[in-house]
Amino acid sequence: MALPFSSLFSLLLLLIFFFTDICNALPIAQNGTVEYLKLRLLHIKPFTTPSQALSFDSHRLSFFFSALHTPQSLKSPVVSGASTGSGQYFVDLRLGTPPQKLLLVADTGSDLVWVKCSACRNCTRHTPGSAFLARHSTTFSPNHCYDSACQLVPLPKHHRCNHARLHSPCRYEYSYGDGSKTSGFFSKETTTLNTSSGREAKLKGIAFGCAFRISGPSVSGASFNGAHGVMGLGRGPISLSSQLGHRFGNKFSYCLMDHDISPSPTSYLLIGSTQNDVAPGKRRMRFTPLHINPLSPTFYYIGIESVSVDGIKLPINPSVWALDELGNGGTIVDSGTTLTFLPEPAYLQILTVIKRRVRLPSPAEPTPGFDLCVNVSEIEHPRLPKLSFKLGGDSVFSPPPRNYFVDTDEDVKCLALQAVMTPSGFSVIGNLMQQGFLLEFDKDRTRLGFSRHGCALP
Ligand SMILES: *[C@@H]1O[C@H](CO)[C@@H](O)[C@H](O)[C@H]1NC(C)=O
Ligand SMILES: *[C@@H]1O[C@H](CO)[C@@H](O)[C@H](O)[C@H]1NC(C)=O
Ligand SMILES: *[C@@H]1O[C@H](CO)[C@@H](O)[C@H](O)[C@H]1NC(C)=O
Ligand SMILES: *[C@@H]1O[C@H](CO)[C@@H](O)[C@H](O)[C@H]1NC(C)=O
Repeated sequence: MALPFSSLFSLLLLLIFFFTDICNALPIAQNGTVEYLKLRLLHIKPFTTPSQALSFDSHRLSFFFSALHTPQSLKSPVVSGASTGSGQYFVDLRLGTPPQKLLLVADTGSDLVWVKCSACRNCTRHTPGSAFLARHSTTFSPNHCYDSACQLVPLPKHHRCNHARLHSPCRYEYSYGDGSKTSGFFSKETTTLNTSSGREAKLKGIAFGCAFRISGPSVSGASFNGAHGVMGLGRGPISLSSQLGHRFGNKFSYCLMDHDISPSPTSYLLIGSTQNDVAPGKRRMRFTPLHINPLSPTFYYIGIESVSVDGIKLPINPSVWALDELGNGGTIVDSGTTLTFLPEPAYLQILTVIKRRVRLPSPAEPTPGFDLCVNVSEIEHPRLPKLSFKLGGDSVFSPPPRNYFVDTDEDVKCLALQAVMTPSGFSVIGNLMQQGFLLEFDKDRTRLGFSRHGCALP
């Protein structure tokens, strides 16, 4: 999503003013180590039992396709099968004074941090925990529409700022790839976060959208179940990682827990540099360069060079992975999209080879939205073909089959890949594909680190 920035230079100037109030101290623990922020990550399955799934029949909206930024050229198919086990990843955020606890979707594919807001004055009758109660916080402050910070968010159409009026809040309207929208007041608040040394840090002046209008499937559908908003972790200046980056080393990492492991390990979103750690997962990290698309500055792009199935490199024309001068193509890493989307020519080759190599019966009925499903009822440990991606920087990403074969029904597994049109669409490594890997987004060194050995940490 390209935001209407006037020029990069004026943006940089704005940033200097905008972030002065949150870069006043370095986070040093008492014993001298540099601290980072540690937010608990939760995985919420919209449907937990088959009976619950049935009662949600009308909502079978396909949260597999839940994508805050489904590639524009793609029409999201509707999946009718009851789905278990996938969905979104959430973080706990405490906002305001006294802190109000909110649950946000962790999204590396967008920038804005926003929460549902309520303007009630005395909210005793308000359903507890359903929205951020701005008037119950002593530190809430809407930006004035003339403030420099207000230039960082897209304005609603036909909105004009009245400089002379004292109370003319900064209005914003933020849209996602599938047309979902949120609008409200771009404001400032204090947030309370845990640090690596177990302290609670109060961070003042965090910019966020206090949303009064929310519409569209990806911000109100089944996959959004229970969330109060989105924590944008994109590359743009208003994301939480960018706002805190100046203080925490321009780096963040997370591990999306593997829901198949029981009991599920706790995972964290870590904002800041964890380089003091000598954890085994960090030592075995592989790196691939991050690329910038000036036309979509929000996204973290990586480069796919080739794909192999069971160790055999597929003859895919490398040009299908390219990010061109018009900003088309390329591959992003997105925690807010569930499935993985690949260019159609690559997808078709992968599908053909996997179909040929998978020696399992088809289910009695096809699963709408998926091209390849298998019936695994007869086999305890079905052998599924091994997919691996050769990435830029001479690294190889080899996810386990459960990252690209998803359970759509009892005894049915489907290939969780989708095609996007070339050249206009772009590829997305979704959250299912990222499961079980520690991922580290390092903006200063413009690289993405990944490791399969870092998830139980720190
Ligand atoms: C809110 O309403 C309750 C009950 O009606 C009342 O006791 C309380 O004083 C009110 N608080 C404020 C801040 O108006
Ligand atoms: C900080 O961590 C403690 C212990 O895990 C937890 O109880 C508390 O809710 C956390 N605080 C915040 C602000 O997340
Ligand atoms: C500093 O303190 C933190 C938190 O108590 C601890 O995790 C870390 O290992 C300590 N570092 C050193 C160098 O002692
Ligand atoms: C899977 O195969 C078993 C045994 O052949 C059969 O009983 C079952 O109905 C099949 N399940 C589906 C969903 O096709």
